[in-house]
Amino acid sequence: MQTREQAVPFPHTLLLGNFYAGKAQASRGAPLERRNPADSRDLVSLAPQSTAEEVRAACEAARPPAKAWASTPAPERAEVLGRLAFLLTQDKQSLARFVAREVGKPLREARGSVQEAIDTAVFFQSEGRRLYGQTVPSELRDKELFTYRRPLGVVGVITAGNFPLAVPSWKIIPALLCGNAVVWKPSDDAPGTAWLFFRAFQRAGLPPGVLSVVFGSGKDQAGQFLVDQVDLGNLNKISFTGSTRVGRHIGEVCGRNLQQPSLELGGKNPLVILADADLDLAVDGALWSAFGTAGQRCTSAGNLIVDRRVLPLVREKLVRRARALKIGEPSNPAVDYGPLINQRFMDAFLLQRETGIDEGAELLLDGRRILPGAEPEGFSGDASHGLYATPRIFDRVKMSMRIAQEECFGPTINLLEVDGFDEAMTAANGTPYGLSSAIYTRDARAMLRFKEEIGAGMTSINNGTTGAEAHLPFGGNGWSGNGTRESGIWVLDAYTRWQAVNVDHSGKLQKAQIDISEHALPESEDLEAILPPVR
Ligand code: UN1
Repeated sequence: MQTREQAVPFPHTLLLGNFYAGKAQASRGAPLERRNPADSRDLVSLAPQSTAEEVRAACEAARPPAKAWASTPAPERAEVLGRLAFLLTQDKQSLARFVAREVGKPLREARGSVQEAIDTAVFFQSEGRRLYGQTVPSELRDKELFTYRRPLGVVGVITAGNFPLAVPSWKIIPALLCGNAVVWKPSDDAPGTAWLFFRAFQRAGLPPGVLSVVFGSGKDQAGQFLVDQVDLGNLNKISFTGSTRVGRHIGEVCGRNLQQPSLELGGKNPLVILADADLDLAVDGALWSAFGTAGQRCTSAGNLIVDRRVLPLVREKLVRRARALKIGEPSNPAVDYGPLINQRFMDAFLLQRETGIDEGAELLLDGRRILPGAEPEGFSGDASHGLYATPRIFDRVKMSMRIAQEECFGPTINLLEVDGFDEAMTAANGTPYGLSSAIYTRDARAMLRFKEEIGAGMTSINNGTTGAEAHLPFGGNGWSGNGTRESGIWVLDAYTRWQAVNVDHSGKLQKAQIDISEHALPESEDLEAILPPVR
């Protein structure tokens, strides 16, 4: 069992290496730095920029362990997950502190994201004693029919940095439970968290080689090299969380290899407030959905669609509450949100401001980078070394504007005025995405219609757009994904294929669809006699 002394010492720099073929591997790739987004002087980790050869070797080496793991009884596979849940629970505080340091999540949220991984492990531990197939009645005598879930083989997993533990757990845990081996390329924003998660699997007793980790960047680097393994026949599936652009590319590669990837992509999530809503509750939900996690969730609310009758009140409450948000150091328990995860997100966030202004939207709150000497009241971070930003609220936004259509990771929300339910619905369905959605109303019929008419995979009634529970299907429609779902029992379909088996005990050749008894059929009519004569 893990002792305290083995826990990773913070806040030293972690020197990370790839781990595949059941052992630590030296890399020829240059080390990649990961720095704390709240304080760039803090070098969190160094991880290799893996080469194409290394990624390929990792996938090839995973094939034999995949076979052995597939033939391990599912309840035995699941025991590893039980131990994993135990270890993650034991280390919850230190893991959360590390997540906060590496990606800037406030501690409270970091703890929540560790809990999401624990809940996922617990759920799939018990699934190991189900993983049901079916018995199906045969149309023939003395014959039995069965279905079995079979693993796919070796699965490539590519994950983003905004949920560095929870989202990988949604993929890796069910993939392993189903009997697959996994080669994981974590985000270059969160290699240290990935390493700690990988170590937890090892400590939980996962056999060597069943889970491998290769570090590196995405574009043109390790992420692409992993996708290339599909064309080379070394992977049976890719599971990806990230941008729609990259998801499309992965979909193309997998499609030509007749594989179905799991693609969890972007969102431009609508939050509707109807005139009859509890406005304080709605503003609470909007605030958390837009600015929680500094708006860096794929489920963050992007468009706040408000009935014109209550818009002035909503506007006033929202701006007042947003102004009072506490921004700063993630370890400070009083902060509402911490830094942006990386410079790329900051650049896109700043560009969105210019785009909105050019398009004629009105800045109600001017979200900008927080610079030293110009810190807002209550700010608790270090503006010289941290990637902090103030909240942005755009007013007078139209659905035709780019800022209403394009996802932006950062603390920003658009206000859109509508007149009544139908206009709200049109706006809510007015982007190519369809991940999460929310409506605030007291009207039961409006709730029903929203559920039925919204084009999103996830819908909240009188709750915000974020915070999906760990055992409900997670995923989107349109540009938000390819229809696969994560979490709960639904994800099992993503990591298994159905096998149909028939066993004939009759001792003779019976032909399905042919050798069925026909005595029950009535004598057929003389069709020529009943058809009208042709003149
Ligand atoms: C993501 O941003 O990729 O539902 C996932 C939520 C979180 C997960 C978000 N549980 O907001």
